[in-house]
Amino acid sequence: MENELKLAAGAMVTLGLATAALVVLPYIQVRDVKAPAGLKPYTSAEQRGRAVYIANGCMYCHSQQPRDRSFGPDAERGWGRASVPGDYVYDKPHLLGSMRTGPDLLNIGVRQPSKDWQLGHLYQPRAYVPGSIMPAYPYLFEAKEAAEPGEEVVKLPPGYGPRGQVVVPLPEALDLVRYLQALKRNYPVLPPEPREAAGPAAPAPAKAASGS
Ligand code: HEC
Repeated sequence: MENELKLAAGAMVTLGLATAALVVLPYIQVRDVKAPAGLKPYTSAEQRGRAVYIANGCMYCHSQQPRDRSFGPDAERGWGRASVPGDYVYDKPHLLGSMRTGPDLLNIGVRQPSKDWQLGHLYQPRAYVPGSIMPAYPYLFEAKEAAEPGEEVVKLPPGYGPRGQVVVPLPEALDLVRYLQALKRNYPVLPPEPREAAGPAAPAPAKAASGS
């Protein structure tokens, strides 16, 4: 009996420590994070687009967390500066993602602001990126003889639309593109890049200069 008690107590302590380290401490660390001045809350259309993003599993292939230069060349890839907790203040739930079958999308609104491109790429990625392995999402669109007044037509490269018909985005596609266009985390964050001032590389050039 004594051994069972020890086992149960040990299990509880281990569980308690794990919960403190992985749940409680991180929560305390980020609960007071304020939204950076440059970050706007999502509009209701963008929130709907976010739900479309979740429903279609975009995050299984796309992360939303550009890393610091010391971890990888994300900035060189054009994915933006390393993200900070404040960037996600309005993201509930956050969509950090862990897979990068496709590019990181936290700054896709900066990189590709074109609505026409985004709509066409969702309808058929291979019309824009030959050999792309991203799935097409034709069910977010409707093919019809002619667009009705007020409806917009997706401008696809020649040969990619259904023959003799036009492709019109459903509201889901329009909302999703609004959400993608809102993914912009390129405002300055405070404190500014902490590693710049006292980087270990700073004295090196001076030494090299005096030696030559
Ligand atoms: C099976 C993996 C996969 C899924 C699921 C997926 N994508 Fe992609 N995505 C990719 C790949 C690979 C690329 C790079 C090739 C290309 O641009 O088509 C890409 C590219 C993109 C780009 C262009 C990025 C850039 O930097 O040019 C956008 C925007 C995008 N995807 C949005 C989405 C959205 C929105 C969804 C969900 C509706 C989605 N993706 C689902 C794999 C995926």
